[in-house]
Amino acid sequence: MFSAVKALLSEKIGDDAFELSPPEISGRGHLSTNAAFLFSSKGNISPIDAAEELKKHLNEKAPKGFFEKIEIAGPGFINMWFTPKAIQKEFKKIADAGVSWGKPNKKPKGKIIVEYSQPNIAKQMHIGHLRSTIIGDSLANIYDFYGYDVLRWNYLGDWGTQFGKLITAYKLWGDKSKIESNPIEELNNLYVKFHRELKENPELEEKGREEFKKLEDGDKENRKLWEWFRRESLKDLENVYNLLGIKFDIWKGESFYEKDLKPLIDEFLKSGIARESEGAIIIPLDKFNLPPGLIRKSDGATLYLTRDIANLKYRISKYKPKEILYVVDNGQSLHFQQLFAIADILGLDKSIPAHIKFGLVLSEDIKKLSTREGRHISLLKVVEEAINRARNIIEAKQPDLSDADKDEIAKTVGVGAIKYNDLSQNRVSDITFNWDKMLSLSGNSGPYIQYTYARLKSILRKAGGLPSYKLGSIENEADLALILKLAEFPGIIESVIENNYPNYIAGYIYDLAKMASNFYEKEPVLKSEPEIRNTRLNLINATANVLRTGLNLLGIGVIERM
Ligand code: ARG
Repeated sequence: MFSAVKALLSEKIGDDAFELSPPEISGRGHLSTNAAFLFSSKGNISPIDAAEELKKHLNEKAPKGFFEKIEIAGPGFINMWFTPKAIQKEFKKIADAGVSWGKPNKKPKGKIIVEYSQPNIAKQMHIGHLRSTIIGDSLANIYDFYGYDVLRWNYLGDWGTQFGKLITAYKLWGDKSKIESNPIEELNNLYVKFHRELKENPELEEKGREEFKKLEDGDKENRKLWEWFRRESLKDLENVYNLLGIKFDIWKGESFYEKDLKPLIDEFLKSGIARESEGAIIIPLDKFNLPPGLIRKSDGATLYLTRDIANLKYRISKYKPKEILYVVDNGQSLHFQQLFAIADILGLDKSIPAHIKFGLVLSEDIKKLSTREGRHISLLKVVEEAINRARNIIEAKQPDLSDADKDEIAKTVGVGAIKYNDLSQNRVSDITFNWDKMLSLSGNSGPYIQYTYARLKSILRKAGGLPSYKLGSIENEADLALILKLAEFPGIIESVIENNYPNYIAGYIYDLAKMASNFYEKEPVLKSEPEIRNTRLNLINATANVLRTGLNLLGIGVIERM
């Protein structure tokens, strides 16, 4: 229904973005748009005249009985009301779509590469990597649901001078069995020890450089060590990913591009894109008002940026993606500006790569946990803590469940709480992280929405199955309002495809869950007369479907009984 209005307005305005959404203030209709302002500047007429013309167009072109009324408000906003009949028809469409509600009518074409998580091997994954993992996974789910061909890419930080240091440290102080039993922590310790000893023995620096050089030159022993560090680290990472329910299609990290770097630099020098500067090699970026991109240090070592250039070229030529989303924290903005500027110099399509930024996690609770765990807070500890806390809540609420069920639910609720907390906040800002708020069963939290879903499912169970929906004559305000809310869902998905903010989905399912709880608390469902009962059960079912779809798109599971 909303998309039909959008199509009608586009007939007049073209594909330009205008706002079309249910107004937050009641009395302003079911749907409101600012389209007249755009139309006015295009046609050089006053906003009020533009609004009148659009109103006329809508009234003429909409099917009979679609709009109840259309009003022009203020300087040129258009407010629309639908007839109960039109809303009921819309509901038939929603009910028939079932779990597919929210998908576009036409499957879009193209490949989207979503690059996320990207931890550095042999190092503790930090909370920024957790954010990238959660946001990236959610975006991948959303593009996938929308019909795109999605490639989930984990670009591991598995190359660079730090491996020379690590190899040096291992050769001096390493213990094989310790690493095997606790890979990331032990490798991390070696790395820390290297930096501590460096203060006493500055010559270690040179040693580290030599070992990395050997590694780059293909020295057998160092290569073996590096492969082993990588393998062991991946085992630890797998544990985190399994717990979070995260999967990737491609695991190509920085090391994969190593062989491409020398030819790449040579080519850049030859074509004049790059030049020497004080022994190093740089790509000047004055044209973009950016500091030069350093692609080879004076000691010959390549850099993070060099590998990212090779990686971007590779992705574009091999996969011909429509977009590449780099889900990486705000702190790396300059790096990506430089990378994209270089891509521009190379003549690569500017519309392909995008930096999907995010802020820090500000939290007393995280600080407390990190002091308890020592300086480094392991991600696994954060997730485990969430699950333990969820387990206590389940224990109090549902003491009669079996232990296995309690564990299963605790995992879904605990992980869901962490993900929802992250995804419900604007990704670009720093976010808060508070255990009580995250796990609350009554506020804006993952568990609250999971709980609402379970309660809807319990009504459906009590009804003994879902009657098939017949276009009913329901005219009750609460029912119509809930249908209109469901009608909003496809537009929400579309907006995330446009701007990559998953918090639109989180905000939407929270509102829907609140509305649904009010609805079943106030309106009789099971005890109402047959026709209304029929419609309401279908309404509850459709609402549960959308809550589940929404949660799943955020990477969060549902629980049938809670
Ligand atoms: N491994 C890097 C880090 O932990 C993030 C990689 C981001 N992706 C990229 N293509 N540069 O800081």
